[in-house]
Amino acid sequence: MSTISISSTSVGSGTDDLGWIQTGLPTPTTLLSTNIDAASRTATGPVASHSPITFEDTSAHGLEQFWDDWVGPVQEPPITTVPLPPQPYPLPVGPPPLYPDFYTIPPKDILPGYKFPSDFLFGWATAAQQWEGAVKADGKGPTIWDWASRFPGFIADNTTSDVGDLGYYLYKEDIARLAAVGGNVYSFTLFWTRIYPWALANTPLNQAGVDHYRDVIDYAWSQGVEPVVTLFHWDTPLAAQLAYGGFASERIVDDFVNYAETVFKAYNGSVHKWVTFNEPVMAAPVNSTLPPGLNSTVYPYTCSYNLVLAHAKTVHRFRELNIQGEIAFKSDNFLGVPWRSDNTTDQEATERHAQYQIGIFAEPIYNTGDWPELIKNDLSPEILPRFNQSQIDYIRGTADFFAIDGYRDGYVTAPPNGIDACRTNISDPNWPVCNVKEWTSSLTFLSFFDSTPFGWGIGDFADPKVPWLQNTWQFVRPFLADLVKRYPTKGGIYLSEFGFAEPYENEKQFIYQVTEDAGRTAYYMSYLGEVLKGIVDDGIPIKGTFAWSLVDNFEWNSGFSTRFGTQYVDYNSPTLARTFKRSILSMGQFWNAHRCDTDSGN
Ligand code: NOJ
Repeated sequence: MSTISISSTSVGSGTDDLGWIQTGLPTPTTLLSTNIDAASRTATGPVASHSPITFEDTSAHGLEQFWDDWVGPVQEPPITTVPLPPQPYPLPVGPPPLYPDFYTIPPKDILPGYKFPSDFLFGWATAAQQWEGAVKADGKGPTIWDWASRFPGFIADNTTSDVGDLGYYLYKEDIARLAAVGGNVYSFTLFWTRIYPWALANTPLNQAGVDHYRDVIDYAWSQGVEPVVTLFHWDTPLAAQLAYGGFASERIVDDFVNYAETVFKAYNGSVHKWVTFNEPVMAAPVNSTLPPGLNSTVYPYTCSYNLVLAHAKTVHRFRELNIQGEIAFKSDNFLGVPWRSDNTTDQEATERHAQYQIGIFAEPIYNTGDWPELIKNDLSPEILPRFNQSQIDYIRGTADFFAIDGYRDGYVTAPPNGIDACRTNISDPNWPVCNVKEWTSSLTFLSFFDSTPFGWGIGDFADPKVPWLQNTWQFVRPFLADLVKRYPTKGGIYLSEFGFAEPYENEKQFIYQVTEDAGRTAYYMSYLGEVLKGIVDDGIPIKGTFAWSLVDNFEWNSGFSTRFGTQYVDYNSPTLARTFKRSILSMGQFWNAHRCDTDSGN
């Protein structure tokens, strides 16, 4: 116990010494679906309090002790060197057509004559906690996920991300495969705790982490692939969580900016697109403990407040330091479509969804510098801290482009008891957003196009373990157009994540069943076609698409039981072998036929 000491003796539900870590440690809240919506934020909040912890020994020995005390043993990686992929990377012969071409058009023949703009970024995405593995290697510090995944039941299949895809060692293989199918961009995220194992600004830098990501960036460029770097994708450093409650404390702001500055200076010139935060609505729910003085209603909004300040300060430093390129954060979820288009209450309910889900961060950062009026009218300053005028001026305009993790769109309606009755009743299950969306009520009519019993689904349904996801291609263009209208930027808009969990993929017995991911392929072909039409026919400034995901990976609380990869990963093989699925090969064919530098007759 030499590295940490309790700075206060009052420990929530536990005892006053470290015994509570074993006996009274709060069980992290299970969050089964990652693409959670704003209405559920209070329901999936933290479950217990702990008192702040300070760190005294930040040496390598101290770090080892920190891991031992809080996380325990981690699974060793089966590979500890970086294999060099063959060049040129061999691509399999494309799969034969799945259906006759009078029913399904081959990818290269979709939308003949349509071309992507010359600077379009077409690629794939991963995130550190989900892909890298090697969680303890070369001086990395623990994250809240390294800690929380040890609790039985926290991860549906009781796995951890200790090894994951081992992207930490297999990044060259993965980037070479991305390049081989034609991709020109790789969006990945950094582990804050690889750079600063203890997270806090006055603690040691881990040079090995800085060097590692430098290799990833350089290797990507060597393959003709542009690296897009995200600073934070939910991997809150455990040290920051224990010291002051992570995003619940304003102390996170300067610690995050310190980390960001280090990264900016290290890779300036080698990265042209930067992202501060991935899906900030999620940053609070994925935290797992509740600092003293906050209840679970207030907590997500306190986190939102601190996160907006951290984003704004990071972007100001980025600009002051004259770092090259553009910077923004990634929004998520959808704006919504009124269930009954001519019904004003449904329209109001839909706008409430849009504001709580996307506007809450986008409105201050892109437009006004302040929270959306609609939300300020609902939430008192005791719940949602207010920005003062100088903060408002500081926050406004701190993004150069818009990025949306736009997996789907969906219908929204008013709650059965009406919006007003809900808005004023904090105990209402739909408070504060006060609407009903299709996937939260899968047994009600909103999952369907029409209200008849057993009506048609809103789109092809993904794996039943991912109930929020359908292939809603019909909304792609209006959704992106609306976002651009609401949050205009000079840098345009990126579909910074989109993807599909093929139904029952993890239950399939043979690899030839897995690689034939027809539902995912249909999703990507229809979304990419809509994106292309959005650019060419509608003039929407869509600048790039980053598919989720390059390979199967650790899907947060679902562990490895749900697969989003366009490539299969054999977790039982000692090399964590990757296999191309139909979807990635079809995407490559689609892109190669529609990129502006090819003359395919298209
Ligand atoms: C968006 C998140 O950014 C990513 O981490 C997650 O795996 C996908 N949604 C799929 O749920």
